[in-house]
Amino acid sequence: MKAVSLEKLKEGMILARTVVDSNFVIVLSENTALTETGIRRLQSLDVPFIYIKDQFDLSKNFQQAEAVDKKDAAFSHDFNTISKLAGQIFAELKVGKKSEETVTKLAAQILPLAGNHASINYLFNLGHMNKTLELHSERVSIIAGTLAKWMKLDWEEIRTIVTAAFLHDVGKREMPEEILSKNPKDFSDEEKNIYRTHCQKGFETLRDANFDEPIPTVALQHHETMNGEGFPNGLAGEKIHLFSRIVAVADAYEHWTSEREGDVKKTPFDAVNYFIREIYYSFDPGVCVPLLTRIKDSLIGSSVTLSDGRKGRVIFYPQDFSAMPIVVTEDGQEINLNLRKNLSITQYEIK
Ligand SMILES: [Fe+2]
Repeated sequence: MKAVSLEKLKEGMILARTVVDSNFVIVLSENTALTETGIRRLQSLDVPFIYIKDQFDLSKNFQQAEAVDKKDAAFSHDFNTISKLAGQIFAELKVGKKSEETVTKLAAQILPLAGNHASINYLFNLGHMNKTLELHSERVSIIAGTLAKWMKLDWEEIRTIVTAAFLHDVGKREMPEEILSKNPKDFSDEEKNIYRTHCQKGFETLRDANFDEPIPTVALQHHETMNGEGFPNGLAGEKIHLFSRIVAVADAYEHWTSEREGDVKKTPFDAVNYFIREIYYSFDPGVCVPLLTRIKDSLIGSSVTLSDGRKGRVIFYPQDFSAMPIVVTEDGQEINLNLRKNLSITQYEIK
């Protein structure tokens, strides 16, 4: 371990000690590999130096840091490959064909991305608009695979979930664009009925193309809800296949993290709020809890702006059914936002 002055910090150096700010909020944890943003954050602190691990005693850590960087760089490349395969699979399904080889290749591309930290950040921050069916399917597939990994399902199950999630909305392929681009809450009764046919259509397409169960069933059931108020068959609880319950959460999460025309800018705090509200009604708690735990953990240390204009930092996010975190403002005031319903978070920057 050695003390390095702030101006001499370099990307890839590994922190030997956790760095806290004057409010004792963790800025960066021990063993973090420094990035450009991390260095900027450290330089904004009033400290003369930072303890860095010696290359000698931690060459292993350096290798890990390098591997993470490489994964980051490889991610956009992987995503392009996936998009090409996705296009191919949808084109084949159009003529009722299933190419085993393309589907296997796609699952093999998506699997390493599921659960990869870089992927989750990428998916979370993308906020893209004009999304295509392929792009939505790819994102849902990565998220569903990630949830399955967090739920500790076995490798073969994760592979099936990744494939099923990619194909869950295949019944939307021939749906009119004006319905697809509309927010479902603005549907007329007629549009709602047309939209709801995509589950049955998807099921038939996948069954006829000889996809193994439960892949067609996931397409059929991904809009069913735990309380039995979903569609098309109003199934409830465990009558809905576990993989369909996972894809339902991944699908909802994907919608939450994508921007649509006319949307109010949402934050991950809104997503937490939403999933806590819907747990038990719509979604399986066994799927939601690992998701909520990870999102909450990733938000600790984030800089936030409150609706009254004050700036602060998330110091704690209770792992119960609390929707909001505890924040310390710049003037040192600790605020439990669960008890201050008149305050909300309007802007955030993930640490
Ligand atoms: Fe759908």
